[in-house]
Amino acid sequence: MALNIIVVGTGYVGLVTGACLADAGHNITCVDIDQTKIKRLQDGNIPIFEPGLEQIVKHNVEAKRLTFTTDLISALPKAEVIFIAVGTPALPDGRANLEYVYTAAETIGQHLNHYVVVVDKSTVPVGTALAVEQIIKKNYTGEFAVASCPEFLREGNAVDDFFAPDRIVIGVRNQRAADVLLEVFKPIQGQKLVTAIESAELIKYASNAFLATKISFINEIAQICERTGADIEEVSYGVGLDRRIGPNFLKAGIGWGGSCFPKDVVALDQMAGDGGYDFKLLKGVISVNQEQRAHFVNKIKNHFNNNLQRQTLAVLGLAFKDNTDDIRESAAIDIVQQLVTAGAIVNVFDYKALTNSKMVLKNTVKYCTSPEEAVKGAQAVLVLTEWKEFKALDWRTLKQTLAQPVIFDGRNLLKPATMCELGFDYHSIGR
Ligand code: UDX
Repeated sequence: MALNIIVVGTGYVGLVTGACLADAGHNITCVDIDQTKIKRLQDGNIPIFEPGLEQIVKHNVEAKRLTFTTDLISALPKAEVIFIAVGTPALPDGRANLEYVYTAAETIGQHLNHYVVVVDKSTVPVGTALAVEQIIKKNYTGEFAVASCPEFLREGNAVDDFFAPDRIVIGVRNQRAADVLLEVFKPIQGQKLVTAIESAELIKYASNAFLATKISFINEIAQICERTGADIEEVSYGVGLDRRIGPNFLKAGIGWGGSCFPKDVVALDQMAGDGGYDFKLLKGVISVNQEQRAHFVNKIKNHFNNNLQRQTLAVLGLAFKDNTDDIRESAAIDIVQQLVTAGAIVNVFDYKALTNSKMVLKNTVKYCTSPEEAVKGAQAVLVLTEWKEFKALDWRTLKQTLAQPVIFDGRNLLKPATMCELGFDYHSIGR
């Protein structure tokens, strides 16, 4: 059954959720306070790069299942479900800023006059749904429900993740709200898990924290590899074959970044502290991630006898991972800034993230439109994002244009034996 659904917030989560739910057959109104963004979306311009999303938006706008507006109040009378998917940026102390969530709740409460299920889709601390409920109740005394359906979409894979999720978590307080949300997600294959609201809220943080822990763990094992002669790729594969551990998120590198892990692990640590619990393991996970970047920079500095002044370095990859233009909390950007501070001349290239990088790195680096341009004349090449395309470069030819045949592969993307055969002085992580 097609439901009338409002999605508040057209950021990453809101836009993907809205477009994909429309594609699943529901009638979706996406609302945002940013008029320019809504105008652009109405004109078919997607503000983020996400494989497959543009076609889905276009198709569902044409089919009249997906509309964009700044007018939440006019959309309310028909709504059966409202997803709140606004941003929850980190405050200076690491806590999530819930201002936008609460403003949406305030508006809903002031103008609601019928039963709806109001669902938190943004990543919010445990207890937020309850707070949303209280805000709505200040102005609306009729029946409604709050719920929590955290999202687990990976950037660059969001559309596929939406239609083939490992699980859909539905945090509710009663069966009526559960039934509405089970109907919303009926067209999507995958296990639906109905839980208490607080459990749903925590499942999201615990999942991201666990994945970040896996990565920091394997990065520490990589440090042991570098000190013992073991090869992290072999170790990681061998460890991952144990079905209790699993092979994913065991790729050593320069550490995790992005819009979720860094924000969510810090917020979970804060949440634990607020409850009087010192989450020691998580603190270690965070500091290992910082050290992993510093360790990589030190390797480069050591190679240049601790003097990077006027050394030209070619950086391949700026996005926090492949298949995205997102540079939020990107380890690559952090490393580039450290190198610039140390006096290096840095040529940068990325397949999608150059525009976003310019806003942060400004005129401190040279922006290149191809890997070939970045590499030409450099003293070393640094691979900082796991774009598969870097593997397929013609490294033999690139070598001839380099001033020195040196590679620092921060993602273990290239094969050490092949690179050595080609005559590179090749450095990577944990091998
Ligand atoms: C993550 C979660 O995976 C997703 O479920 C959640 O909804 C949002 O946060 P995303 O931020 O898109 O998704 O990135 P992800 O693919 O998880 O990668 C995070 C970071 O870890 C990247 O910087 C990536 O390069 C790094 N990473 C990932 C590793 O260093 N090693 C790995 O084995 C996997």
